[in-house]
Amino acid sequence: MAFMDNFKDKIIFIELLFSAFVLYIIGLYVYRVFFHRLSHIPGPKLAAASLWYEFYYDVILRGRYTFKINELHEEYGPIIRISPYEIHINDPEYLDTVYPGSSPRTMKYSWSNKMFGLRTSILVTESHELHRIRRGAVAHYFSVSSLRRLEPGVQFQIDKLISRLHDLKGSNTIINLLDMFASLTADIISQYGFARAYGFLDDPNFSPHWHKMLMDVSENGHLLKQFGWMLPLMQAMPMWMAKVVVPRMQVLIGWQASFRAHIIEIKESMARGEKPPGQTTIFFDVLSDPQVRPQEKETDHLQDEAQVIIGAGTITTAHILAATTFYLIDNPSIRGKLQAELEPLMQATGGKPSWSQLEQLPYLSAIIQEGLRIGNGIAHRLQRVFPDTLLEYNDYTIPTMTPVGMTPMLVHNNPSLFPEPRAYNPDRFLKQPGLKKYVSAFGKGSRRCAGVNLAYAELYLVLAAIFAPGRFDWELYETDITDVETKHDLMNASPKLDSKGIRVVVN
Ligand code: HEM
Repeated sequence: MAFMDNFKDKIIFIELLFSAFVLYIIGLYVYRVFFHRLSHIPGPKLAAASLWYEFYYDVILRGRYTFKINELHEEYGPIIRISPYEIHINDPEYLDTVYPGSSPRTMKYSWSNKMFGLRTSILVTESHELHRIRRGAVAHYFSVSSLRRLEPGVQFQIDKLISRLHDLKGSNTIINLLDMFASLTADIISQYGFARAYGFLDDPNFSPHWHKMLMDVSENGHLLKQFGWMLPLMQAMPMWMAKVVVPRMQVLIGWQASFRAHIIEIKESMARGEKPPGQTTIFFDVLSDPQVRPQEKETDHLQDEAQVIIGAGTITTAHILAATTFYLIDNPSIRGKLQAELEPLMQATGGKPSWSQLEQLPYLSAIIQEGLRIGNGIAHRLQRVFPDTLLEYNDYTIPTMTPVGMTPMLVHNNPSLFPEPRAYNPDRFLKQPGLKKYVSAFGKGSRRCAGVNLAYAELYLVLAAIFAPGRFDWELYETDITDVETKHDLMNASPKLDSKGIRVVVN
């Protein structure tokens, strides 16, 4: 009997514990919905109550929250609460407020920072001041003047691509544009970063694994955001175990290890007194720059920075190039107009115009803007936290330290700015040059994309090279608009998940 009494006591104790837990959760949810400092912001109660709402759309439905957020804006208006802590705004006129220049101070949102599995990179540096210091250590490698010096290196890889395409001409080989452009951009940035191109352009299939790996790492971000503890746990496991537990996480761990090895290799070669390779090489140069603080030369930090520069420097540009190429193949009249514009410059320069010459071409420039608008590099919201500024939006006051974000993709699809937003129409930028300020593919303000000049150089030089009059005749292969349209926000934009890619043959 004593045993039974003891047993009953234990059951009662567990019941009490469970009830207390349920009461706590209910109390917490009631507090968040009705008494939280963001309770006055409209939005669904479920999203205000719990982060599981975001989890459901982003993890279970694989990057669908961005689309749900769009629907919520239609229901609740331009300002909504999308989680217990986060505000989302969909109003193009508010871009410059959410993404200011160096003032007022802005921070990054720690919850979303977890997506990248990074610790100290500029991309995830919360503090405004520290971000300025860290960004200063790498910014000038991406300035216009540095990029003009790098141009022969970029052109070298583009020439290699063009020569590969000449070999493939007429062979009916199916080319996946995402793989092809991701190989090109990876070879360019790895050469610039480490003085050693990955060599993906030499792969007969343009390295099909590279683009897939980047997308896997990208999708992983949704899981890491919700369960940030997973990465250190996986890192502590032997590789084979991590591979079994969460295969996609293992890809990220392997990738990070490769960056670490590169940085250590550069440090060792410098310790042996070996000279830099005689060209600007980001990581070699950062390490030998006396202006850069020792903290920004630490292996952990440079490993992080390498992940961002190589990752961000590859996939986004590749996506915009692939989408723009699709639309140009699919629209003969737009392509014809581009080729007519390119013709005299191509003749005058022996088929190799420079980036600055190409920038003078209005139609090519409009094609690039429209590609950035419709193509979606990053599909995710970009949050900012204002530590000491109250934001006002219509009748709403947004308290300090509130993560507030906008999503470039939603701005780019605003029908009052861009009528028929899903139609590829470069002319809209010729008719209304002012529209350019709403193209926020690179983000805006003090934390906008650091590689914007490299991205532009690549977009101009590559599109001119592959659409040079008389050079190639492109044909889509079992590819339609559903292989291009963004259907999932895996941080990087993704079409329907069973897409086989944007595929073409070249004649
Ligand atoms: C069309 C191509 C590209 C697009 C659409 C793009 C887009 C973006 C976006 C949206 C951000 C985040 C900005 C924010 O948080 O507000 C970003 C950050 C960044 N991007 Fe890009 N990017 C592109 C190409 C590149 C290239 C070629 C590089 C360099 C090699 C690069 C390096 C970076 C870096 C280092 C950051 C972090 C900047 C910071 O936090 O200060 N990106 N990019």
